[in-house]
Amino acid sequence: MKLVPTLVVILLTVFTAVCQSNQSCGEVLRFPSTMTQHDYVRLETTLTSSLTAVTACVRMRTDAGHSGTLFSYATQRNHNELYLFGDRGRTTFAANMHNSGTGFFNLHVLDGMWHLVCFTGRSSSGDWKMYKDGCLVTSGTASSRGGSVDPSGVWILGQDQDTPGGAFQLNQAFSGDISNFNVWDYVMTESQILQQFMNDSSYHGNVIDWETVGKLVYGGVQLYQVDCETSLGQDPCNITDDEICDTAYNNTIVDPNRSTAFVPGPSDLYICDNRLTKGWYRFEAHSQSVRIPEVFVEPYHCGTRVPLWLDGPHPINSQVADRVVCANYGVPGNYCSNSIPILVKKCADNAGVDFYAYCLSPTPGCDQAYCAGNQEPCPNGEVWGDAYGKCVKDVPEITENPVLHPPVIDLTTWKVTFTCEVKYDNDTDDGARFDVKFLFDHTDDRKVNEATPTPLDPTRKTVELDAKYLGTFDNFGTIEWESKMGKTVSKTQVTQ
Ligand SMILES: *[C@@H]1O[C@H](CO)[C@@H](O)[C@H](O)[C@H]1NC(C)=O
Ligand SMILES: *[C@@H]1O[C@H](CO)[C@@H](O)[C@H](O)[C@H]1NC(C)=O
Ligand SMILES: *[C@@H]1O[C@H](CO)[C@@H](O)[C@H](O)[C@H]1NC(C)=O
Ligand SMILES: *[C@@H]1O[C@H](CO)[C@@H](O)[C@H](O)[C@H]1NC(C)=O
Ligand SMILES: *[C@@H]1O[C@H](CO)[C@@H](O)[C@H](O)[C@H]1NC(C)=O
Ligand SMILES: *[C@@H]1O[C@H](CO)[C@@H](O)[C@H](O)[C@H]1NC(C)=O
Repeated sequence: MKLVPTLVVILLTVFTAVCQSNQSCGEVLRFPSTMTQHDYVRLETTLTSSLTAVTACVRMRTDAGHSGTLFSYATQRNHNELYLFGDRGRTTFAANMHNSGTGFFNLHVLDGMWHLVCFTGRSSSGDWKMYKDGCLVTSGTASSRGGSVDPSGVWILGQDQDTPGGAFQLNQAFSGDISNFNVWDYVMTESQILQQFMNDSSYHGNVIDWETVGKLVYGGVQLYQVDCETSLGQDPCNITDDEICDTAYNNTIVDPNRSTAFVPGPSDLYICDNRLTKGWYRFEAHSQSVRIPEVFVEPYHCGTRVPLWLDGPHPINSQVADRVVCANYGVPGNYCSNSIPILVKKCADNAGVDFYAYCLSPTPGCDQAYCAGNQEPCPNGEVWGDAYGKCVKDVPEITENPVLHPPVIDLTTWKVTFTCEVKYDNDTDDGARFDVKFLFDHTDDRKVNEATPTPLDPTRKTVELDAKYLGTFDNFGTIEWESKMGKTVSKTQVTQ
């Protein structure tokens, strides 16, 4: 007879071991702790056909100490068509599907940790179940049954609707984080829900898919991105201090357009870091390491629409520092509409020059980009010239026509050379090169040009034509090159 309580204890232990989580990844919505009726998220979708069975799951985290409405779906006919309701005066929640209510129940989720909450309901039987972190918490059978959840309603996260898309009440707002809201048109089994809990980033509702559904954010709600690899696997930023500096140096982002001084023009593409792979990076502009600015940057700077700036100082020692970057959407008085956590570490390169390494995550949306540096990028057609320490012309300008000098005879080697001298403005990119070709009666001679050393660069402005090519060369009966006697030698130049 004593076997039964022992079994119960074992089961409970197993469940508490499994049913614990504080992870979530992908897009996360943060509902402010100062509750108002203006903070909510409307999903850009509706129902195209009615539902008689439903599974609705949501990841949530709150430290508000009271419940709040996680989601609601309202139609013109019934503003309580489907919801998971809570309010400021309670620690309990209630669900409703069409005309079948569950009454209030305790989910034990008000602990500041992430939890996966799932509701399943079937209108034909009135049966409903509530799961927390993959485990059944409570279930019941509604007294009223039948009917279905009607199409063409409005989906809202973080608020209860008293008319479709509106009539919100301050007390019914949710405060905390919401993510991974997926809806299916069937009732999942407990084991399917547990699987989802273990691996939620790979789950996609067939009615609402969190990954693709559009989210219209209202009021003080912030949308941010949590890297799934980090949340569910190895964190690419969790590496040793030596690796950090090396990795960041190898991942240098060279982009002078990220400068706080750069305001993109109407036809410029905005930089967007939503596809950045999480990891350690360094920024460079004008051949120097540059930093993320420590003061807010106005929108439409840094080559993007919503610039990200560092809210805090760069560390002065070499410890890895936790920081956040802020997105400035241009809301008056709010330079930090949403924030993304980053890590910052002071490093030194091989020459002993300090630089900062940043652990960066992809941005939650476009067009948001990390700012770096404060110098004007070079104007169009110019590039940074290291040797000159300023912007120089990308392609050199020929200042005079190339000069073909008269032949010079070297009596010791019996070599005759023609020199072609290219005259150009040397204030150009050090990488600029000239390719010189000799033409004979305006015809290119492959052999001659292959044998002629080119290209020219700013330190070498002449190219020599060996006069041996001017006569005929007969190699055991095969003519290797034709005589150029009597032809006009000219030259062309190609800039690159
Ligand atoms: C995850 O849980 C640990 C303790 O279990 C806690 O220290 C940490 O703050 C939690 N993290 C999040 C993001 O909730
Ligand atoms: C989670 O989902 C991914 C992608 O579908 C899969 O590769 C992985 O094996 C799953 N992990 C678990 C624990 O189910
Ligand atoms: C970093 O990774 C190690 C194992 O590689 C792990 O033990 C440690 O908890 C991780 N630290 C963080 C902050 O994730
Ligand atoms: C950085 O790049 C160098 C050269 O490609 C390579 O040898 C080194 O392993 C890389 N370091 C890291 C940490 O990836
Ligand atoms: C910087 O912006 C200019 C447009 O003003 C563009 O032509 C150029 O390609 C951009 N540079 C980089 C590195 O993206
Ligand atoms: C460029 O030209 C100036 C004078 O015109 C000269 O002093 C300088 O050495 C030249 N630089 C190179 C790299 O040739």
